[in-house]
Formats: sequence, structure tokens, C-alpha cells
Amino acid sequence: MAIDGPSGTGKSSVSRQVAHRIGAGYLDTGAMYRVATLHVLRGAVDIADPVAVAAAVRGLPVSVGSDALVEEILLSGEDVSAEIRGDAVTAAVSAVSAVPDVRTALVEVQRILGSARERMVVEGRDIGTVVLPGADVKVFLTATAEARAQRRNSQNMAAGGADDYDAVLESVRRRDHLDSTRAVSPLRPAEDARVVDTSDMGFDEVVQLLTGLARESMGAA
Ligand code: DC
Repeated sequence: MAIDGPSGTGKSSVSRQVAHRIGAGYLDTGAMYRVATLHVLRGAVDIADPVAVAAAVRGLPVSVGSDALVEEILLSGEDVSAEIRGDAVTAAVSAVSAVPDVRTALVEVQRILGSARERMVVEGRDIGTVVLPGADVKVFLTATAEARAQRRNSQNMAAGGADDYDAVLESVRRRDHLDSTRAVSPLRPAEDARVVDTSDMGFDEVVQLLTGLARESMGAA
């Protein structure tokens, strides 16, 4: 099952829960771009230099677990699951993921990891279009920029951060623009994807809808 869409749609938590309910493995491809970005930043590589960035990412020593409810992301054996969500990585990840050779290298690994188990939920931006175009079920989760900014701002506040809706909205729009206008694998739904607007849907409602689609395709009740 391929689940694509921009950030702030609830995509990660929904994908994990759907994978758990249908007994599937789970792969977060965004986390892989984040690990690559952390590796680049730690190596003091100039992120504006695509050749240097691609060279740094080649043979990336990354390992990701496939358990939907346990996030395990290792870089050279070190657990970096918290660090890859930090501001430094978040600010640089769009630039790193726009480098064509970075995408080629990571897509190759994603195809292997994404087929690791008979049932897999693979989450990202280009899973239905590029990584696994033959996926049995393709979903594109979307929501208005305002709804996504609202969610992100609430998450930030719950984590002890400041209430700064306007800045969050601005950053959501900036990332949308970068992700949807890049030359390689721009963010867009696959032609055969089911587009689901989650702006006015609750978490459980989205999970139920997607679990239903997955079960339907597996021929199970
Ligand atoms: O889903 P996320 O916020 O963790 O993704 C981090 C970044 O990686 C985001 O800027 C988009 C990019 N990404 C991508 O280009 N292709 C994917 N399949 C997954 C994420």
C-alpha cells in the first residue's frame, strides 16, 4: 500500500496505525531523506552543492526497522530517530531530497525495503508514482495548508513550543512549493490514487477508511 501526500495531513500516524491493523510492515521514506540530510550536515557538506551532497549520500549507512509501532532509524548503528526530526534537518531536507542522484540512490533502497514483507505500507511523496508504481492500493492524503499548519502548530505547542501559527503556515507553504515544483519526482497524486482530503476528518475516520481500502484489496473482510 502506497500512502503519499504533503506533511501535516496526519500521514505518518495514520500509516503506522493502518500497517499495524492489517499486520503489515511499515516504511517511512521521509525518515530516509532525513537521515541522508543529517549525514550531509554532520559531514559539513555544502548543501547547495548537489555533486558533493550526492557523493555524501552514496552508500549511506542507514538501517530502518519495519515495525509500525516502533520507530528505529540507525545511522552507522546510532539511533538518530529523534535528531532527524530536529530543526536543522527539517530546514535542509527539501534541498537534499531535490538532488536527483540522492533520489536515485534512496529509491533503490526503498524498493528493496518496501518489498521486505508480503504486506507493506510505504509512506512518502512519490511512492505511488515512482518507488512502487505497481502498489495494490494507492492513497494520496491531502488537506488545506491552513488545516495542516493548525495541526503542526498544536503539535509544537504540545511539545512545549511557542504558539506561532503564522510562521508555521509560512513554512508549510514554502515546503509545499519546494516539494511540488522540483524537477525530479514532484509531489503529485498517481493517476490511480484515491485522493483523501483529511481537513475535516478525524484520525480514526481516516484510519478506518484506509484500513477498509487495504482489506478490500486483500480480499478480506
Ligand atoms: O515526510 P517528512 O516530512 O518526514 O519528509 C521529509 C522531506 O523528505 C520532505 O521535504 C519531503 C521529502 N520526501 C521526498 O522527497 N520523497 C519521499 N518519498 C519522502 C519524503
